[in-house]
Amino acid sequence: MRKPIIAGNWKMNKTAAECRALVTELLPKVKGAKCDVVVCVPFTDIALAAELTKGSNIAVGAQNIAWADSGAFTGEISAAMLVEAGASYVIIGHSERRQYFGETDKSVNARLLQALKTGLKPIVCVGELLAEREGGLTEKVCRTQVVGAFEGVSAEQAAGVVIAYEPVWAIGTGKTATDEQANETIGYIRSVVKELYGEKVANGMRIQYGGSMNAKNVAGLMAQPEIDGGLIGGASLKAEDFSIIVAAAK
Ligand code: PGA
Repeated sequence: MRKPIIAGNWKMNKTAAECRALVTELLPKVKGAKCDVVVCVPFTDIALAAELTKGSNIAVGAQNIAWADSGAFTGEISAAMLVEAGASYVIIGHSERRQYFGETDKSVNARLLQALKTGLKPIVCVGELLAEREGGLTEKVCRTQVVGAFEGVSAEQAAGVVIAYEPVWAIGTGKTATDEQANETIGYIRSVVKELYGEKVANGMRIQYGGSMNAKNVAGLMAQPEIDGGLIGGASLKAEDFSIIVAAAK
């Protein structure tokens, strides 16, 4: 049995004051959750979110991590900084980073290795563009991204990684993949993990769906056998919506 994991991806939203308000509202609402609950917040909110959620069932994550320990990497934030600030999860390779900030499978791999080295729990994002889905390339793209991301990662390390399947055309568009589409591609991703690491790791790995997941469509998605949770963007910015999603994951 895989324990579902619901992670909010706040993206570049919520100042510290807004973070305080949202987390404070969220805490009592998700208290009885049957799944793992994570909020991936902007760097400037990590320490505050960690302090506010101390001793609760909400874990705090970052949205990116540097691939080096320290040094001349202007604008980057190291794994050690994230850990000390109170993060326990980190999103790696989100499609917005790939699209707007030049993230590649190679840099995703380097960041993943860095996260694993420091004990941060990675959420690795993969997913196809609309043209790739329409061109029948979904599986090929997901395979390339998964194989690229996990290069040099041992089976033992891989077992602790969460993958988020996020079809790029479904992110922030209101267009969700159908329950069956999401289930099918996640099943395929699991088969790639099986090729790389064997059945035990593949069966134990948690693979989320992400892309316009919300309070209305969560039940259908979560009813699919391959889907182990969600990476939630827009709907994670409202405590009410996010807590409905959390409650649906059991
Ligand atoms: P969305 O974003 O839920 O707003 O589509 C999901 C994501 O980008 O992680």
